Amino acid sequence: DGGSPFPFTVQGLVDAARDILPRPHFDYIAGGAGRERTVVANEDAFARWGLNYRILRDGTGCDPSCTVLGTPMSVPVMLAPAGVADLAHPGAERAAARAAADAGVVQVLSSATSTSLEEVAAAAPRGRRWFQFAWPDDEKLARSLVERAENAGYTALVLQGDCHVAGWRTRELDSGFFPFRHGHGIGNYVSDPRFRELAGIGARPVPGGAALEPAEVPAAAATWNRLYTRPALRPGDLALLRSWTELPVVVKGVCRPDEAALLVDAGADGLVVSNHGGRQLDSGTAALDCLPGVVEAVAGRLPVLFDSGVRTGTDVLIALALGASAVMIGRPWLYGLAVGGQDGVAHVLRCLESEFTGALALTGHRGPGTLSPADLTPVPAPT
Ligand code: FNR
Repeated sequence: DGGSPFPFTVQGLVDAARDILPRPHFDYIAGGAGRERTVVANEDAFARWGLNYRILRDGTGCDPSCTVLGTPMSVPVMLAPAGVADLAHPGAERAAARAAADAGVVQVLSSATSTSLEEVAAAAPRGRRWFQFAWPDDEKLARSLVERAENAGYTALVLQGDCHVAGWRTRELDSGFFPFRHGHGIGNYVSDPRFRELAGIGARPVPGGAALEPAEVPAAAATWNRLYTRPALRPGDLALLRSWTELPVVVKGVCRPDEAALLVDAGADGLVVSNHGGRQLDSGTAALDCLPGVVEAVAGRLPVLFDSGVRTGTDVLIALALGASAVMIGRPWLYGLAVGGQDGVAHVLRCLESEFTGALALTGHRGPGTLSPADLTPVPAPT
């Protein structure tokens, strides 16, 4: 009775977030590159697959849990790394960490957070966490971030491979709102002694203290902008990363089978098929259409994860049937955060888990491990 305070439809969630957030914040989250054809294509691609359902089955005891790279998950859904999530809600990453921990879901923390990775870990000590590593263009800073993540209990690194240039993001250009210039999303950096040295902002905090004085913002933002990524990053650099850490390394942003094969040979432990939610390249191929080719090239040698366009429990099922081990969601958790903070993220995760578990049973499975392309029928293109 009384219903939920939060919407259950994808569109309802988007509309509620748009109503609540200042327009430039909503546009930063919702927007994509160029005309946003990749954003649209990512979601539309799921409509080209139909799920085959089975009848007269025992639907009780369906268990949606799985384990990926040694990390147990209550459901094969993870929170994708999203920088500057505090645009959606204050204390964003900590709220998401608590919601993820309660749901038994992995939070992949962005490098570009407003709260330091240590503080996020401390907010949900029993949570499962991976760290998305944007390789900075300074080796000491790179090593420091990796070491801090390992010390704070992050159990895998997700190397961002697709941000060697900034996306042409038209909504941001229109609004003129660039969050990093205002000091959003650099908490991990300003709490790092090496970063502070590079920015010339003094050696004040130790890791964990992310307070940034307003007067320090211009120097910190300019330094971040200069060093955030290393344009010269190549598959061969995985060996260097390996020499710094024992953590498994997952490469995010893979769309091509030839690059997937290269990364397997270069020693990656996992891949994420992703086009960054359509935020980098307009007119890009839908991420889902890239998944089967990458899965084929990898040939079971390591887990393939997927993101970009996943909105519902049945989308999760389709991606898994095409060979993904688990999926990540980006915008949906940010919209949940906008409409209800921690409770809103919990709501989004509950919806995905319920719909996914029900759909597993309706397609005749007792868990995600048995999904295969045999569960799918391609929907013919309209003539
Ligand atoms: C992102 N994404 C992202 N990825 C990453 O590796 N590091 C980051 O800091 C960010 N930041 C970020 C901010 C915002 C506002 C969004 C929406 C996305 C990309 C993210 O991890 C993921 O690839 C996409 O969001 C997946 O697509 P959907 O689920 O949003 O369609």
